[in-house]
Amino acid sequence: MDMLSIIEKKKLRNPLNEEEIDYFVSGAARGVLEDYQLAALLMAIRLNGMDRDETSRLTLAMTRSGTMADLSAIRGVTVDKHSTGGVGDTTTLVLAPLVAACGVPVAKMSGRGLGHTGGTLDKLESIAGFQVELTMEAFIQQVQRIGLAVIGQTGTLAPADKALYTLRDITSTVDSLPLIASSIMSKKLASGAQAIVLDVKTGSGAIMQTLEKSVELAQVMVHIGADAGRHMVALVTDMDEPLGSHVGNALEVKEAIDVLCGRVTGPLMTLSLALGAQMLLAAGAAQTAEEAENRLSEALYSGRGLEKFRQMIIAQQGDPRVCDDVTLLPQAPVSAIVPAPQTGYVQSMETTRLGNLARSLGAGRRKKTDVIDPSVGFVLHRRVGEQISRGEALATLYCKTEADAQAAKAELLAAILIGPQPAKPLKLIHALVTPDGATLL
Ligand code: URA
Ligand code: CA
Repeated sequence: MDMLSIIEKKKLRNPLNEEEIDYFVSGAARGVLEDYQLAALLMAIRLNGMDRDETSRLTLAMTRSGTMADLSAIRGVTVDKHSTGGVGDTTTLVLAPLVAACGVPVAKMSGRGLGHTGGTLDKLESIAGFQVELTMEAFIQQVQRIGLAVIGQTGTLAPADKALYTLRDITSTVDSLPLIASSIMSKKLASGAQAIVLDVKTGSGAIMQTLEKSVELAQVMVHIGADAGRHMVALVTDMDEPLGSHVGNALEVKEAIDVLCGRVTGPLMTLSLALGAQMLLAAGAAQTAEEAENRLSEALYSGRGLEKFRQMIIAQQGDPRVCDDVTLLPQAPVSAIVPAPQTGYVQSMETTRLGNLARSLGAGRRKKTDVIDPSVGFVLHRRVGEQISRGEALATLYCKTEADAQAAKAELLAAILIGPQPAKPLKLIHALVTPDGATLL
C-alpha cells in the first residue's frame, strides 16, 4: 500500500477501507508520511467527502493512534461535554461544578483556543497558579476525591489528530464534516468518558454556519460515539452572537463565577443548565430533563456549585479567592466604552469577527508561540433584538494600550449591525440529536 493509491482512490470518490485508513492515520501520527501527500489526501476528503462508515473507521483509527484514558477506577458513570467551539462560550466552567455538585463525576479534558474560538484551558489559566497539566494518576485521584477535574489532553491522546489538524489549518481543509467529526470524536473517545454530551454550535460564529449542516454534524458524531458503545446526545445551539456577554479569558471566568453566585442569568446560564441536565440524564442521575434542571438550579442557588468550583481551584493550585472577589482576576490596563453610533435595535452580529477581535487584542493565538494576555477582551451590553439609544454603551473594551482600544472600537462597530426596525432575540437551542434521530425544538 502507498499514499499515491490512497489519494487516487479518494480523488475518484471511492470509499477508503480500514487498511487504507489505518495506513495514513498511523503514518500521520508517527510523522513518517510526506506532508504534501497527506495534504492532497485531506483536500480530496474535503472535496469528495466520506460516508458514515468511512468516517467511523477514520475516527476509530485516530482514537487508536495514541493512548486511551482508563477512567474505570472512578465510581459512577463518567460524563464528558464538548462544544464544537464558540465565542463567549464558557459553559464548562458553569456546568462542570454544578454537575459534580449533583454527585456525577466530571473528569474533563479540555482544549485551548482554536481559531476565533476560546478554550477552557486558557480561561482556567487566568486564575493565578491554576495547573491544567496533571498526570493521569493525579487526575483520577482528584475526581475520586472531589468529583471534578478539568485538565489538558495529554500529548499522547489521539496524536494523529494533532498531525492532521495542523495540516488542515494551513491547507483550507478545516471545514470538512468527516474531518471535523473524526477530529472531535477521536479525542472524546480516547478521553474515556462513558457518556458524552455534545454542544454543536450553529450560526455566524460556528464551524457549521447553517442549521442543516450543524444537525448533520451532530448526527454523524452521535452515531460514531454510539457505535463505539458510548451514551451519546447532542444539542444544536446558537452561535449567531456570543453566548455570554463577556469575551476574553479572565472576563469569561468572571462571568462564570457571576453565574455560579446567582448574580447573573441569561443564555450562558440557560444553556449550561440544559447541557448539564443532559449530563445528569446520561449518568442516570435524573429521570427527566425538568428534574435534572431543578437539581442543577438547586446546586446553583444553594452555592454548592460555587463551592465545587472553589474545591477544584484549590486542588489544581489556583487562587480560590477569585470565587469571592472577581477583581483578583487579571485586569487590563485600559478600558474603553464603545457608544452606539445610532438609535435602534441590534439586528445581527458577525460572531467570528468578534472572536477574531478578541484574539487580536491578545485573548487568543495567531501562531503557536503567541502568549495569551488573560486580561483583554470585551463585554457586550446588548444582545440581538435589544434596543439601544445613540451614545449609550454598546460594549466595554479591555485592552493593553489606548491604540488597541481605538482600533478595536472601529472593528467592534463594524461587526455589530444596528438598525431602526425591531429585531427578534435569537433562539438558543435549536435541536436535540440522539442515536434515534434529530428533534427540532
Ligand atoms: N474542533 C476540533 O477539535 N477539531 C475540528 O476539526 C474542529 C473543531
Ligand atoms: Ca472548546
